[in-house]
Amino acid sequence: MSSQNIYILGIESSCDDTAASVIHNGKILSNVIASQKIHEEYGGVVPELASRAHQQNIVPVVHQALKKAGITKEQLHAVAFTRGPGLMGSLLVGTSFAKSFAYGLNIPLIDVNHMQAHILAHFIDEEGFNKPSFPFIAMTISGGHTQIVEVKSHFDMTVIGETIDDAVGEAYDKSGKILGLGYPAGPEIDKRAQKGNPKAYQFTKPKVAGLNFSFSGLKTAILYFVQREVKANPNFIEENLNNICASIQYTIIGILIDKLKLATKQTGIKQIAIGGGVSANSGIRQALKDGEQKFGWTTYVPKFEFTTDNAAMIAIVGYLKYLEGDFAEQNITASARLKI
Ligand code: KG4
Ligand code: ZN
Repeated sequence: MSSQNIYILGIESSCDDTAASVIHNGKILSNVIASQKIHEEYGGVVPELASRAHQQNIVPVVHQALKKAGITKEQLHAVAFTRGPGLMGSLLVGTSFAKSFAYGLNIPLIDVNHMQAHILAHFIDEEGFNKPSFPFIAMTISGGHTQIVEVKSHFDMTVIGETIDDAVGEAYDKSGKILGLGYPAGPEIDKRAQKGNPKAYQFTKPKVAGLNFSFSGLKTAILYFVQREVKANPNFIEENLNNICASIQYTIIGILIDKLKLATKQTGIKQIAIGGGVSANSGIRQALKDGEQKFGWTTYVPKFEFTTDNAAMIAIVGYLKYLEGDFAEQNITASARLKI
């Protein structure tokens, strides 16, 4: 078995996406995702419904990932799975499946930390995308997480800042709910923000010391602001939606960039990589580009399909751990609050 010819199956089921991916050495052969539409009508992820849907999706999703990759399960060298953090019921589906699958095939099992995977997605071989060199700062921004991490090597990472309440994606989604937008609202707020005036309305930024974030106060400020304006003019939202979205986006991006500036100052590291669903945002992408000019940053944004929850990022971590011989035992359990 040459180290040049390794096939790993990655499985992700931490939240509401059931995903499987096959990686050949560092290159992704398939990246299959079954997103669960069921949560839209509830305006957020319903844990019990999520685990039931994972249960239904996992076998067909894995089957399709192998088929798309053009390999049989007997060709796999290891099975990697998300151990945590995430919703316990959801994690259990992927964990149990991966354990039995690896056991049945008599190949190694590899546990993956979902937050590390968002960062290590930058190490997938992908044309047109450079890999960051160490050390770098990673900012993971999604509906479930907001962290700043100092990355010294693939598996030597320190969280240097994180949210003390809501994640940044939640700030987008909850603001969207106040404005009567669908779930998740991030993409629509982003689209409308590009057509509005970012300085139309001012929202105070939270005062959180150091590199931690807080977004729950912003949500309340937006709620009170909208309630006050709607009282004076019942059509306020419809008449000013683009400006409201632009102002919310301007505030959120400002908060993220302020913390990145502080992180680069504290660590002396000017390489910045972002990941997670919110890294699709046009405002953060532009702000990072501006940072290259203004502050001498080098910035990395992964390919879109590797930013939101996916199994390719689990597969790349599986591959990196496989090379180090870092395997899990069969008695491993899922861990909802797993830390980096
Ligand atoms: O990484 P992800 O798919 O799932 C989680 O792990 O949460 O991220 C989903 C989050 C949602 O909150 C969604 O509103 C947000 O990412 N999002 C965006 C954009 N695209 C997705 N937020 C702002 N701008 C976007 N373009
Ligand atoms: Zn995630």
